[in-house]
Amino acid sequence: MKLLISEKEIETKVKQLAEEISSDYTGKTPILIGVLNGSFIFMADLVRELSIDCEVDFIKLHSYTGTRSGGTVHLLKDISADITERDVIIVEDIVDTGLTMKFFKERLEGAHPSSLSIVTLLFKKEVAQLNFNIDYIGFEIPSDYVVGYGLDYNQKKRNLKGIYVFNQDDGGNK
Ligand code: IMP
Repeated sequence: MKLLISEKEIETKVKQLAEEISSDYTGKTPILIGVLNGSFIFMADLVRELSIDCEVDFIKLHSYTGTRSGGTVHLLKDISADITERDVIIVEDIVDTGLTMKFFKERLEGAHPSSLSIVTLLFKKEVAQLNFNIDYIGFEIPSDYVVGYGLDYNQKKRNLKGIYVFNQDDGGNK
């Protein structure tokens, strides 16, 4: 597999994103909602770099099998927190087509938070079809399928420290 983003580059970017978010939310206590499973490492690193108070919750959605978007988003686990009149930040590992984010965003908006913003570590600009804004983007990447730093191929490779372009032909060997 080919290294796309190194551990060091991720670390620097996560710190930058956390600084921006901390500055934008000064005096507030946002609730960060991560999309499982992919965002668990990004969430853990991001919240530890925030200099403001925050809360954390998770939702579990599924739209991918192998390297293909299933087209339909399934809700596997809902959030536990009451987000009405809260400042909510959605934390995603990657926005590909944007289908998952659209589903999630509309669902959260139904609960009337006082504000809703989105942070994603990775953004596939060429693939995404969005009719909404993404507030914080870590890296814009090509349309290749990537793994590592929480991102999987059939539930594996999440534990890699960097982000790699996944090549099915070589079985995804590092
Ligand atoms: P979307 O709905 O097409 O934007 O896809 C979003 C979800 O699909 C993400 O939360 C990931 O779980 C998964 N996904 C999309 N692209 C990739 C990739 O390149 N590697 C690993 N997972 C991906």
